[in-house]
Amino acid sequence: MTRTSDGPTATTATDRPAIGATAGDADSPEALRARVAGLLERSRARSIALTDAVDEADLLAQHSPLMSPLVWDLAHIGSQEELWLVRDVGGREPLRPDIDGLYDAFRHSRASRTGLPLLGPAQTRTYVAEVREKALDALGRSPLRGRRLEHEAFAFGMIVQHEQQHDETMLATHQLRAGAPVLHAPAPPAPPARRAAPREVLVPAGGFTQGTSTEPWALDNERPAHGVELPAYWIDAHPVTNGEYAEFIAAGGYEDPRWWSEAGWAHRVAEGLVAPQFWQRDGGTGEWWRRRFGVVERVPADEPVVHVCFHEAAAYARWAGKRLPSEAEWEKAARFDPASGRSRRYPWGDDAPTEAHANLGQRHLRPAPVGAYPAGASPLGVEQLLGDVWEWCDSGWHPYPGFESFPYKEYSEVFFGGDYKVLRGGSFGTDESAIRTTFRNWDLPIRRQIFSGFRCARDAAPAEAERTGQGQVS
Ligand code: AVJ
Ligand code: FE
Repeated sequence: MTRTSDGPTATTATDRPAIGATAGDADSPEALRARVAGLLERSRARSIALTDAVDEADLLAQHSPLMSPLVWDLAHIGSQEELWLVRDVGGREPLRPDIDGLYDAFRHSRASRTGLPLLGPAQTRTYVAEVREKALDALGRSPLRGRRLEHEAFAFGMIVQHEQQHDETMLATHQLRAGAPVLHAPAPPAPPARRAAPREVLVPAGGFTQGTSTEPWALDNERPAHGVELPAYWIDAHPVTNGEYAEFIAAGGYEDPRWWSEAGWAHRVAEGLVAPQFWQRDGGTGEWWRRRFGVVERVPADEPVVHVCFHEAAAYARWAGKRLPSEAEWEKAARFDPASGRSRRYPWGDDAPTEAHANLGQRHLRPAPVGAYPAGASPLGVEQLLGDVWEWCDSGWHPYPGFESFPYKEYSEVFFGGDYKVLRGGSFGTDESAIRTTFRNWDLPIRRQIFSGFRCARDAAPAEAERTGQGQVS
């Protein structure tokens, strides 16, 4: 069913990933089991590194009312794994029926979790290790086909992604934590010397396939694949940088209500926002400095701005004479291949990310300078779509046509229609197993403790929209 060449019409383009690049359908059950076991091990190594980095008091502490204590995240990771892999797939009795309620995210707000009779650090480590042993047993016994939850190891993929999502949340807690640095990583690559890259890319009008029906481990909200028609638009080739954002600040952007929505301005005033979170101005020189995982350093001008809320992103875009892209515009720029009409799994193709493609997986503890990943460009020439910073889109959190909740309503469905905005593309703290061009994230428009940035878009003028060919640049 791989399509060939009859043009980019939304109704016929498919999102079929290349065989072998996906989580399941080309693997024998043994090969799939080995791959799942490897991914479970990798996510656990990350969870352990994030929790072993601090002492016991620190694991139990509330570093911000927006975040859980780290020990809660770790036990919650185990609790979800127990629920789906040990009890459901494995058919086993609960290990600790008494603690279920403590680690139910809907029962207790993040701010209230330090007040609960939580398992201590040592008990938590024992609990997650016991769960893991039984989950691996379930992996050995499941046919990994047939029943939808087990087909192509979906439940295992969901749990790998869940652990990695909480690892990114724990990384955000580390960023909020006061004190000396405890996490370390090499700096990201510098951009290779090359011809000046375009600032914006023209995406031609027409249909493309948004979402997926074939990606084995896609979560419910990414489904089903469906055609979307869009007029032509321009989109930035890179995320907005610190240097560009500092120009907005210097131009009085935070003092001018013209650039802000009504809700955004009210929030700006109420919270006294004057710059991205973690930025501080040197009173003497006027230079911007930031605190990043305990390191205080000059804000690098060429890195994507991070720790801005939706309102700040939208205000910058309006000041720049642009706007934020819609979620569909972001996805088309990220995966639509005008030559084949097909939607890709990743901007660069269907093969899994390498270090050359994107800044993912906490390999670096910061976004990479713009231009650092030419190999990660989409067919139209848009760069750094995956990794670096989550990108705010001007879209609310809604289901696609034909959405069906699976396997539980509390992952996506209960949030639909709320006051959430969509974020796309993942950050330097997102693992590759938990990101693809179809992946959808959401958060409140005032949140900025997450690794959030943005890029801008704008409508194409009628004459520009008529231009054909790919990758028109400005
Ligand atoms: C998809 C990142 C919004 O962390 O709130 C974790 C992921 N859902 N456990 C979140 C999630 C349940 C979710 N986000
Ligand atoms: Fe969770």
